[in-house]
Amino acid sequence: MATVRTSIHGYWSSRFAFVLAASGSAIGLGNIWKFPYMAGENGGGAFVLLYLVCVALFGVPVMMAEILLGRRGRSSPMNTMRVLAAEEKCSSSWNLLGLMGVLAGFLILSYYSVIAGWALDYVVEIGSGSFVNVTRDEAGEVFTNLISSPRRLLFWHTLFMVLTMVVVARGVSKGLEIAVRLLMPALLFLVLVMIAYAMVKGDFYAGLKFLFTPDFSKLSPGVVLKAMGQAFFSLSLGMGAIMMYGSYLPRDASIATTSFQVAIVDTVVAVLAGLAIFPIVFANGLEAGQGPGLIFNTLPLAFGQMMGGVFFGAIFFVLLVFAAWTSAISLIEPAVAWLIEKFSISRLWSSLICGGIAWVIGLGTVFSFNNWKRIELFNDTFLAGKSFFDLLEYTTSNIMLPLGGVLICIFAAWFMREPSRRDELQIVNEGAYHVWRFLARYITPLGVILIFLHAIGILEKLHIT
Ligand code: PHE
Repeated sequence: MATVRTSIHGYWSSRFAFVLAASGSAIGLGNIWKFPYMAGENGGGAFVLLYLVCVALFGVPVMMAEILLGRRGRSSPMNTMRVLAAEEKCSSSWNLLGLMGVLAGFLILSYYSVIAGWALDYVVEIGSGSFVNVTRDEAGEVFTNLISSPRRLLFWHTLFMVLTMVVVARGVSKGLEIAVRLLMPALLFLVLVMIAYAMVKGDFYAGLKFLFTPDFSKLSPGVVLKAMGQAFFSLSLGMGAIMMYGSYLPRDASIATTSFQVAIVDTVVAVLAGLAIFPIVFANGLEAGQGPGLIFNTLPLAFGQMMGGVFFGAIFFVLLVFAAWTSAISLIEPAVAWLIEKFSISRLWSSLICGGIAWVIGLGTVFSFNNWKRIELFNDTFLAGKSFFDLLEYTTSNIMLPLGGVLICIFAAWFMREPSRRDELQIVNEGAYHVWRFLARYITPLGVILIFLHAIGILEKLHIT
């Protein structure tokens, strides 16, 4: 029962182009900025181990399910869910899944753009030699000055949002393929240069030990939830980005192979970033658990001492901006494509509207680091003490993405009829198909729900743990 639908937005030129685009979406600030600071805050090795388990048990099955639905629906996640729910004779409430994804995309992009703005600022900062032979405290001061200036943050946030919208307005496949093909390997190369530096000048042994010896006393229900949230965030899952990209995937490409490739590349880049950063942290007596400023306080120190550091440092942050750029595009593409489908407006208009909305929400993050730092919402709950940025970051990664991912899995593995699923996955290996279906049916949903319940404390109250 082959369903032949077509995408009005175009197709990738090949399977390889899809792998590049999906890797471009996956590799971003999540790997180089967020993974190291999350590992630093949550005890190192134990977090890393949990993260790897989450990628394998939840990440790969959800990614396959997302691509499967996207390619079958051939439109934006909202319309894909509407069409597939009707085709599979399910409730039209499945539309809400697309809606939640679009909302998550806006919220994530709003702060993503502010952080990418920090990286833009650092291109100029490092390039102009501000870090040459600085001390740890001087380097820290440069960062504090940046985040305490709303005007500077606003400037870079605006610039990054404009850059993102320019690419989205031109259509995802033009430009994106070239950017990913050339720039991602360059970023990887520079991360390797940083690791080489860290081996020679940093405390490499302490870094390795921190990342790879799990200290299980550091584990708590909250940490498990964060490791899971980070897996969804880093692989771009649960909000429809990969579903959207899957809708441009040619029919002859294997969904399983592509999913594995993207998951492996993404994970390797995150772990390498950790290996580049922690030896420098420990050699300079920096705080591993200092939070979102971690790479901005660590790497410039290394560049400041390195031969050619001004050049390499500037290039590194340029490449980080590119990595963030290719992710940002995928965060907003589901919303942009949906507006085009729904109201038949031009891509340019749709991009302007979506970019504008995300920009406005981003103001909340701009002020989270200065004027509104002390505004604490939800004081009597487990969210006490969090700024607007913390709150967005926490709820999107740890709640919205895993929830979206589980619902996607449930739809693909339970509600979609067997022939539709088989037709789209083009199974060559029966055993592997059954493993996927088992994971997607039972392990992913149950695992995620148990982690939620554990984090909220319900399991403890019932004396189950
Ligand atoms: N995966 C991206 C990163 O690691 C962020 C992202 C999340 C992109 C969700 C799209 C969807 O930076």
